[in-house]
Amino acid sequence: MFPHKILVTGGLGFIGSHTVVELQQAGYEVIILDDLSNSQLFILDRIKAITGIAPKFYQLNMLEEDKLHQLFLQEENIAAVIHFAAHKAVGESVAEPIKYFHNNLYALINLLRCMEQFGANNLVFSSSATVYGDPDELPIRETTVFKKAMSAYGSTKQMGEEIIEKTCAAKPINAIALRYFNPVGAHNSGLIGELPLGIPNNLMPYITQTAAGIRKQLLVYGNDYDTPDGTCIRDYIHVVDLAKAHVKSCDRLISKNNSEKYETYNIGTGKGYSVMEIINAFEAFNHLQLNYSISARRPGDAKAMYADVSKAGKHLGWKASLGLQDMVTSAWYWQQQLSNAH
Ligand code: WQD
Repeated sequence: MFPHKILVTGGLGFIGSHTVVELQQAGYEVIILDDLSNSQLFILDRIKAITGIAPKFYQLNMLEEDKLHQLFLQEENIAAVIHFAAHKAVGESVAEPIKYFHNNLYALINLLRCMEQFGANNLVFSSSATVYGDPDELPIRETTVFKKAMSAYGSTKQMGEEIIEKTCAAKPINAIALRYFNPVGAHNSGLIGELPLGIPNNLMPYITQTAAGIRKQLLVYGNDYDTPDGTCIRDYIHVVDLAKAHVKSCDRLISKNNSEKYETYNIGTGKGYSVMEIINAFEAFNHLQLNYSISARRPGDAKAMYADVSKAGKHLGWKASLGLQDMVTSAWYWQQQLSNAH
């Protein structure tokens, strides 16, 4: 029996590369498609260094429909596609909405067209908790009603889910959308991790770059929220746990165990930590002092977001297993490896 072949778009990115490692270690054959607009080619060698297997790689922009078509012509029997490739900088999307709608939605539409044409009928979609907006209820359930997205990026995830749901209703395609909460950390080898381009928007890479002396000081965006310590609460999830949720999703679709043609799952730990709790854990577990100060709130931030993850436990057979210590120590170890290598 040949191993099932999985096409991973954006497979050299932060979550993509960790997912490729877990897929290979679960026995899948992996093909990576990436345009290298927000990733680096050396990650391909790092994946091979971890698993011993070099995934086949296509450097390709999914807006080039003919090239995407060529890939599907060449690669027969794709058992499932995991679609990560998208622009994902929330702040940039507010300034450049057309760039985000064009790239994120056309790439998805081109992919769905090829999947239908070539009979690749299983899709795992990289969605985000951002689809919920600033929630009225906590914990957030998959049935929690979407609020208006806070950014064009968030809109592309809401619209992406809508496009996929309607396609599944009309075509032989089945899909699972995974709504990530806050992915952090890195593979324990220190060989792959987050590679933010420019000044990081997200908390954890800003913390690790501050600790590494790349950034002068971390600004904590507000400590006057209605939370126990006044700072915002998020559901941080280790990227390796998140990667494993994608493997479980492929398993479910390929074995036709999905109960709906389109399913959605919250992927988090179900536990929220505040910004200060993350900072304190980073300092304590890595035995260092972080230079930070309290500043004004960041517009658009929700006070608190954390997931009800019971559905993924029940239907995907998936549950996060890595805790806060793994998150902050693996993130720091990766940053140190990066600093040594460059
Ligand atoms: C977390 C907390 C900030 C930076 C975003 C996207 C979401 C997903 C994950 C893609 C907040 C605070 C941050 C800093 C700070 N990405 N913070 N100083 O905003 O919850 O989610 O990333 O899918 O779609 O919206 O993550 O890491 O930016 O912020 O105090 O320098 O850290 O205010 O409370 P966020 P984040």
